[in-house]
Amino acid sequence: EKGPYQHYMLKEIFEQPESIKRAMQGRIDEEYATAHLGGLNMTSRELLEVEQVVIIGAGTSYYAGMLGAYVIEQLARIPAVAELSSEIRYRNPVVRKNTLYFAVSQSGETADTLYALRELKRKGARVLGICNVVGSSIPRESDGGVYIHSGPEIAVASTKAFTSQVTAFYLFALLMARMRHLSYEEGLLFIRALREVPERLREVLEKAPEIKALARKYAWVKNFLFLGRGLNYPVALEGALKLKEVSYIHAEGYSAAEIKHGPIALINPETPSVFLVPHDELREKVLSNMKEVKSRGGKVVALCTEGDPDVREIADDVIEIPAVYRYMYPYLMVVPLQLFAYYMALELGRDVDQPRNLAKSVTVE
Ligand code: M6R
Repeated sequence: EKGPYQHYMLKEIFEQPESIKRAMQGRIDEEYATAHLGGLNMTSRELLEVEQVVIIGAGTSYYAGMLGAYVIEQLARIPAVAELSSEIRYRNPVVRKNTLYFAVSQSGETADTLYALRELKRKGARVLGICNVVGSSIPRESDGGVYIHSGPEIAVASTKAFTSQVTAFYLFALLMARMRHLSYEEGLLFIRALREVPERLREVLEKAPEIKALARKYAWVKNFLFLGRGLNYPVALEGALKLKEVSYIHAEGYSAAEIKHGPIALINPETPSVFLVPHDELREKVLSNMKEVKSRGGKVVALCTEGDPDVREIADDVIEIPAVYRYMYPYLMVVPLQLFAYYMALELGRDVDQPRNLAKSVTVE
């Protein structure tokens, strides 16, 4: 039930500190600074033999997979990519012996992902599921996997499933990294930062009124750009998808670096850009991308860490989030974008939980 919330989407956004905790529950081992994911059904020897990771999914689950691939590659140093399930199936993909596949799906019933999984399995691949709905087709047909335990996600727009899918990948990346080069101390640092996420998210959720005001201010806009880099590039894509889905406003997500290769031609006073500016090694680069947009007459909304004077100087509007360990920014960045999409939809009188033309689970190809 919705409780005090007007819509399921809002309720599910606010549930995230708890649902993320549930995704981690019983899976973190502080003594050895690693993760336990029993459902993988793989021995340590088999995990050690993995040479590549390929993640498949659709929509929001695909973006969670993209972020997962970045983290697996950066933390565990295993080559990893995400692919759209709808594309991989018909590409006649090459399956190599030591590649591990993940099929990501909230519902576990998405046809594109299910058929891709079957095609990969037919070729002898080992495919693991990252799913929410227990007993659904994808977990039943996969070789093992991780349930994210988000609880029912009712709103068509996926929110809490995304952050829990990401958590499953963070735990997997930690496990794989600790079997390889990551030291005990570094593992512990990662665990402590991950455990802190729910608390930091609560602080971000307190910004809801501020984000609502922002939505009111920009409700007249017809086109948005969402720009981020590195780990926050998939978050920018997800922010754009969320806005399209529930408010029907056109939005594009890009790597902030990519706009100079074309999309910058769209910039004018009517097309604002939402920039994700965490305090990480790409911050300076994103700042210069922001300046490029400003100098061409574009409005800039920035999500940045508390008290970042450089961002304040350039941006028209700023939403601040707490500073955290670099890997944890995607959590704190995606939630304001979910809220922004929600309040935009509300402002425009859209059917938030049941957007037109969409279904919760897409069981046709
Ligand atoms: O159930 P799944 O995670 O497999 O669904 C995949 C997509 O259909 C889904 O993420 C869709 O893009 C959502 N409506 C996004 O909010």
